[in-house]
Amino acid sequence: MLGRVTCFAEGMQLWKLAASCGALMLTAGAGATIEDDLSSVLPFGPRVTGSAANEQARSYFEAQFRAMGYTTRRDVFTYPRFDDLGSDVRLGTRTLTGRALEGSTGGAVTGRIVRIPGVGTAENFRAVNVQGGVAVVQRGQLPFLDKVKNALAAGAAGVIVVNTEAKELQGRLGERVPLPALAVTSVAGAALQEGQQVSLNVRVRDGEVQGVNVVAFKSGLIRPDILFGGHMDSVFRAPGANDNLSGTVAVLDLARRAVNTPLAARSYFVLFDGEEDGLRGSRKFVQDNPGVVQNLKAMFNFDMVGVDASPLNVSGEARLVELARQTAQLSGSARDQGGSDQVPFAQAGVPTLFFHRGLDVNYHQPSDTLADPQLIRATVDAALTTADAALTPVPASR
Ligand code: BES
Ligand code: ZN
Repeated sequence: MLGRVTCFAEGMQLWKLAASCGALMLTAGAGATIEDDLSSVLPFGPRVTGSAANEQARSYFEAQFRAMGYTTRRDVFTYPRFDDLGSDVRLGTRTLTGRALEGSTGGAVTGRIVRIPGVGTAENFRAVNVQGGVAVVQRGQLPFLDKVKNALAAGAAGVIVVNTEAKELQGRLGERVPLPALAVTSVAGAALQEGQQVSLNVRVRDGEVQGVNVVAFKSGLIRPDILFGGHMDSVFRAPGANDNLSGTVAVLDLARRAVNTPLAARSYFVLFDGEEDGLRGSRKFVQDNPGVVQNLKAMFNFDMVGVDASPLNVSGEARLVELARQTAQLSGSARDQGGSDQVPFAQAGVPTLFFHRGLDVNYHQPSDTLADPQLIRATVDAALTTADAALTPVPASR
């Protein structure tokens, strides 16, 4: 889906619908609210790292930080990523949706269907003549890579792997193979009859992606005591209202609430990119800012705090968890749950605290379109209380 997201579907609150239709356009200003942030950024659509929406969102957040008097900095990094841009199988007038196997070559090939017996071992391929045809092979037992390599060796023009369930299959070859290969559901697979002409369209992009972290701070601050972070990117096809516009907006609102207090002069506010591609932004930050990282008394990460799948929970370093429990009455455990941007910091020895409200049903789905401003506000309240306690020197006992 490369088209522009104009209006989101029904079931939205009125203010959000108005915003997604462009009726409400807010300019940067210190007077903006959590509601304004959500309604300004959600209409951009999924904020996949490297996408136009990701950049639009970043510009909005930078403008907000600057309007409050913070300095912002961009940390740019790159990494390799494989993307399926929309692949399918055409059978006469029918179009069946497929998912490119990660590592597949892009391209369009046409040929007759050859159904491979078994699971696609070299022996299975020897039992048929697939030369110039499109091999249709069942999922299971053998790695995808072996099935595809066996098809290549047998002279197939392309491969279709059929899932064992009526669900989309997202497979990984583990290396580049010079053959178009995609996966289809069991239902689509059943429509593929021996000898029929099919065309296989595998549209992929295999290259470098550019990620950009935003770091906001009061001018001159080089050794912050605390870092508040959250990831700004979302997964393909998901607007990411909860995962993780909620956490991003929490970080921005923390900056807003801190602005005329001593906390502003002790804090870094970081919007990480590339989290969904494997914590790319936070790993890069930790790697490139050892001086900052070593000095931190705490790193607070916010991820999925706008939907109450479960009550606000903190996990991380034992002392910080205890402070959050006692001062902000939060539930928490010292065990770290969920992979998010606190991980590289914790691995570097920084005391971390991960704020989240659990996994909701819309996690990584196109239906992740709602985040409750009140839940985000309550998260910010709890984080401010905990930060205050964490940064207050403990009187030396005598
Ligand atoms: N938002 C999730 C992490 C999360 C999990 C938050 C549970 C709150 C509760 C994050 O964006 C995510 O999807 N992480 C991946 C791992 C990451 C390294 C790609 C995950 O948890 O599978
Ligand atoms: Zn997330």
